[in-house]
Amino acid sequence: MSEQLEQQLISWRRELHQYPELSNKEFATTERITGWLKGLGLTPLPYSLKTGVVVEIGHGEKCIALRADIDALPIEEIAPVPFASQHRGVMHACGHDVHTSVMLGAAALLKAREASLPGRVRILFQPAEECFTGAQALIDAGVLAGVQAIFGMHNAPELPTGTLATRGGAFYANVDRFVIRVNGRGAHAARPQEGVDAIVIASQIVGALQTLPSRRYSPLESVVVSVTRIAGGTTWNVLPQQVELEGTVRTHNNAIREGIAENIRQLIHGIATASGGAAELLWSPGPPALVNTPHWATFSQQLAQEVGYQLVETPPQMGGEDFALYLHHVPGAFVSIGSASHDGLHHPGFNPDERLIAPAARYFSQLAEHALNSLPLPQ
Ligand code: NI
Repeated sequence: MSEQLEQQLISWRRELHQYPELSNKEFATTERITGWLKGLGLTPLPYSLKTGVVVEIGHGEKCIALRADIDALPIEEIAPVPFASQHRGVMHACGHDVHTSVMLGAAALLKAREASLPGRVRILFQPAEECFTGAQALIDAGVLAGVQAIFGMHNAPELPTGTLATRGGAFYANVDRFVIRVNGRGAHAARPQEGVDAIVIASQIVGALQTLPSRRYSPLESVVVSVTRIAGGTTWNVLPQQVELEGTVRTHNNAIREGIAENIRQLIHGIATASGGAAELLWSPGPPALVNTPHWATFSQQLAQEVGYQLVETPPQMGGEDFALYLHHVPGAFVSIGSASHDGLHHPGFNPDERLIAPAARYFSQLAEHALNSLPLPQ
C-alpha cells in the first residue's frame, strides 16, 4: 500500500471520528463514505437504504462480501486526541470509524486490481450495528443476493496491534434483553402488612436469577444473566406499587436460549406469587450468536498468518454482533484485530491504534481475492 493511501485512510478515519452519528442517523457519514467511494471510481449499488452504502468491484459470477459498520454511540468523548468528536455526547467509542476506513482501504486496493479479480467483491458499509437493526435492513434490501461468503471485523482493544483472533463455530453470543415488572400493593412504609412489598420481591428475584446460570445449566455452558436497571419507589415512607427490572441474557447454545425465557418466567412467577404479588416478563430477542463457518475461519487464520499477523487464541465472547445475521444466510467468518486501546470498547476514553488500519485493509483485500480464487462457480 502506498504511503499516500495509508495517510488517506487515517485522515478519513479521523474525519469520521470528528463527526460521529448515532444508529440510523448516519446521514452525513453515509454522504462522506459515498463521496470517498466515488473518488475511488466506485458507484453505489441502487439498494433502497435510509443510511449506509454498498459498492461492488469486479466482474463475473463469483461474489464475496466484506462488511464494515459505520455508527457511533451516545457517549461524551474524553480521549485526548486532536480529532476528538465535534458532536456533543456522540462518539465513535466502538471503533466503527476504524472499521469503515479499513474497508475503504480494501475497496481502494481491490479497485486497483479490478481487471484481474476472478469475481466480484461487494462491500457493505452498514448502519445501526449498535442497535442491532442495520444488518437486517441490508439483508432485507437484498445485499446478500449472489454472495457466496462474507467477512467482517471488529477491533479488539485488549489485543496488541498486529494480532488477529477468530474461531470456527460460536464466537459472539446470543443477545436477549428483558424487562421484569413486579407488581405489589402500595402501602405506608410503617404498615407493610397492608401492602405487598414489590421492592422485597424484586430483590429476591435479582438474587434468584443468578441461580439460573449456576444451578439450572451445566457449568460447562456459557450463560450470563445481568440485571442492569432497577426502578421503583418515589420516597422514603411509601412502599411502591411496582418495581421494574431490566437486563440482558447472553448464551451461545441455542437450546438454552430457547428455554431460558420460560425458566425466568417460572422463577419470577413463583417468587412473586409466594409473597402475594405478581411478576411479568417482557422479552426482546436481540441478534443470534455469531457462528463462524469453520472452513472460512481457518481460511481467514491461514491468510492472516501468511501476511504477518500474529494469531491469538480467543474464547467465545459474551458480547453481541449483528454480523451474525449475515451468517444465517451465507457462510463466512468474523475476525478480531488488535487495536491496543487502554480504555475498552464503549469507554469515553477509547482510543484505538490507527496503525492497524493499513494492514487490515490489505488483509481484507487479499482475503476477498483469495476467497474468490478458492470458490467454485455458483450453481
Ligand atoms: Ni462495535
